Parts: sequence; C-alpha cells; structure tokens
Amino acid sequence: MRKQVCIIGGGPAGLLLSQLLHRAGIDSVILERRSRDHVLSRIRAGVLERGTMRMLDEAGVGARMHREGYVHTGTYLSLQNRGFRIDFDRLVGSSVMVYGQTEVTHDLYDARDAMGGDIVDEAADVTPHDIETDRPYVTYVKDGTEHRVDCDWIAGCDGSHGVSRRSIPGHALRTFERVYPFGWLGVLSETPPVSHELIYANHSRGFALCSMRNENLSRYYIQAPADDDAANWSDDAFWDELRRRIPEDAADRLVTGPSIEKSLAPLRSFVAEPMKWGRLFLVGDAAHIVPPTGAKGLNLAVSDVHYLYHALVRHYDGDDEGVATYSETALHRVWKAIRFSWWFTTTMHRFPDQSNFDQRIQETELEVLEESETLQRHLAENYVGLPY
Ligand code: APR
Repeated sequence: MRKQVCIIGGGPAGLLLSQLLHRAGIDSVILERRSRDHVLSRIRAGVLERGTMRMLDEAGVGARMHREGYVHTGTYLSLQNRGFRIDFDRLVGSSVMVYGQTEVTHDLYDARDAMGGDIVDEAADVTPHDIETDRPYVTYVKDGTEHRVDCDWIAGCDGSHGVSRRSIPGHALRTFERVYPFGWLGVLSETPPVSHELIYANHSRGFALCSMRNENLSRYYIQAPADDDAANWSDDAFWDELRRRIPEDAADRLVTGPSIEKSLAPLRSFVAEPMKWGRLFLVGDAAHIVPPTGAKGLNLAVSDVHYLYHALVRHYDGDDEGVATYSETALHRVWKAIRFSWWFTTTMHRFPDQSNFDQRIQETELEVLEESETLQRHLAENYVGLPY
C-alpha cells in the first residue's frame, strides 16, 4: 500500500498524529504490534497539561475528557507532616486535567474508527527501510503474510522498546540517561481519593504520591527500592506505609480497600538525539523517557506530535522548514521537561546515598519553595506545561 505517512506504534502519540493528519487531509496508516485489547488495558499516567487538552480538542476528541475529567487548579506538596499548596490558577492562571491515558487512548481509537482510519494491529516484524532516501518504506507481517507500505515519511511512535530508534545508525545517535536508584510501587483501588488534589509527599521513609482517576478510583504510589517486587507487598503493608509518609490529616481520612492493580515501575530519564534521521521521525517515548514525577511523559509525546503535525502540514504546502527543524524544535522543549522531572524527582525522593548535607539542602529547597511565590510560579508554569 502507499501512504503519505507510515506511523509505527498505536499508543497515544501514533493515534493522535494520525487523527490530526487525517483532519488535515494527509493520509496515514498505523502499524501496531499488539492487539487493541492489550493497548487499551495498559494503565498509565493521568494528568494532562493545558497544551494536551488543546491538542485533544484540536483533534476532535476532547468531549469526553471535558465531561468526565477533573480540572485541578493546584496541588499539595508536603515535607514530613507539613504541607502547602501550589495554586496554579492564582500563579499562572491555568490548570491541569485529571483524565487517564487509558481513556485518552480509548477516545482516540473511537475517533479513528469513526473516520475510517487505517490501523493494522498485531503487525509483526515492523521494519523501516531506506530511511535515508526520498522513498522510504516499511515492511510488516500480518497473519503470516509480509506487507509493504511505501510512504513519504515514517513516524516512529513505538515507545522506548520500539524498532524506530534502533533504525537510526549508531554513529548518528547520541543518548543521555539517568537511572534513579528507586522505583514507584503503585496501587489502584476502587476507593474515594484521600484528597481532591494530588499530594506529593517527601518523607524520611521515602516519597509518596496520592493521585486519583475519579470519585471512586484512587491511584497511590510509594517510593520503593528499584529491585523490590510488588508481590512482596500485601495491600495492608502498602496502606500502612502510605499512611506513614503523607501528612497526618490525610492519613487519618485515607479510605483503603483491595488493590485492583499493583506494580513497581523503575524511574529513569532518557533522551535520544536527533529526533529525525532522513525520513524517519522519533515521537514520544521512542525518543525520551521521564520519571513519572510531575506526569510529563504523555504530555511530552503530545507536544512532539504538535511539532511534527505542523511540520508535515507545512511540507505538503510546499515548505520544508518545519521538517528540517523538527528535531531541534522538539528537543528544545523535551530538555526543559526532562529538567523539570529530574528536579521534581530529586527534590521529593530519598536517595540511598543521601548525606545529611544533601538532606538539609532538600528540606531547604522545599522550605524556600513554600516561602517564595516566585519559585512557586516557576513550578506552576512547568507543571501546567510550558507553552507551545
Ligand atoms: N512495531 C509496532 N508497534 C510497536 C513496536 C514495533 N516494533 N514496538 C512498540 N510498538 C507499539 C507498542 O505496543 C505501543 O502500543 O508502540 C506503541 C507505543 O506506545 P507508548 O509506549 O504508549 O508510547 P507513546 O505513544 O509515545 O506514548 C507516550 O508517555 O508517559 C508516557 O508511557 C507513557 O505511554 C505513554 C507515553
């Protein structure tokens, strides 16, 4: 088959890109390795930046988000038992939306189906070819038969373990990485959230986060050793540990219940440069990973999609400036989110090798943040998402 754009990966980045391109009259196909049920069952983050909301609206998929999502105009930070609020609305006149990535993916699949979008699921051995030429193509195997997609461009939206990044020659690729010496043990439970807004807690026993999906679905996390195993944690042990780390008033009103999901996720920061090689673009997790502190992963994928979508529209209007500068433009914003996620992670977690000096600095960092409106505004600006 022949398409203008061949998109590898049907996660939120690939789906959103194909949806926007379709609306602009640009033809694409998505090649997704897994089944749709698998993609839709993945439980991921749930805080959307203002730019992400705008992009979902622009793609015509924002209606359910506005109806069912929760607008958060601030968030709580705590140190030991003392907390304070960062008021996004007052500081930067903006807010974020709590709406799960699983729901975003659902809405995008529904929209793609409604528009007759071309999505091949369970596509095996997806392989980009001739990406350094003007006639790239992608091969894949479906039901035992090999197929070929000829295209103008390939969008690598296939996450951190995909084939796209590996298709860029090693000599051309530069990678940057920080692996954090801990993970997040997460629990999803059908209980009312302890707080309407998120609580990020720095505690001597380790970081904790109280988050939510809806009025009766809570998401909680505690920092745990990277080599720990979720199976080592009973629900009771998890709830006890969470209670110890969050402010006392929150601990007292915490409603617990059976976990419906429990998993341990490692934390790392990673960037691959460049994000374009020949006719191949890297988008979202294929190019970068952030630790979950501050919920930048999905939002960063969406800003990449924004830049690539506009670059491709310009290309088909006869202007190649956008495709030529995509990597540079996207990376400029990526690094700022990488920095923010690193800072927020470093400030809120206890590191195994933390000296008493490091600890005082960390405590002071939170104290000056509590006292300084300027620093709070800086945090708020980054949390609601830098403009694009
Ligand atoms: N061929 C085809 N599809 C592939 C391949 C491959 N070789 N490898 C991976 N995929 C698919 C995966 O099955 C997945 O559905 O690519 C998709 C990538 O989706 P995500 O991992 O969700 O990545 P992305 O779309 O960039 O979404 C942004 O932000 O916070 C993060 O992890 C969070 O998923 C979120 C991401």
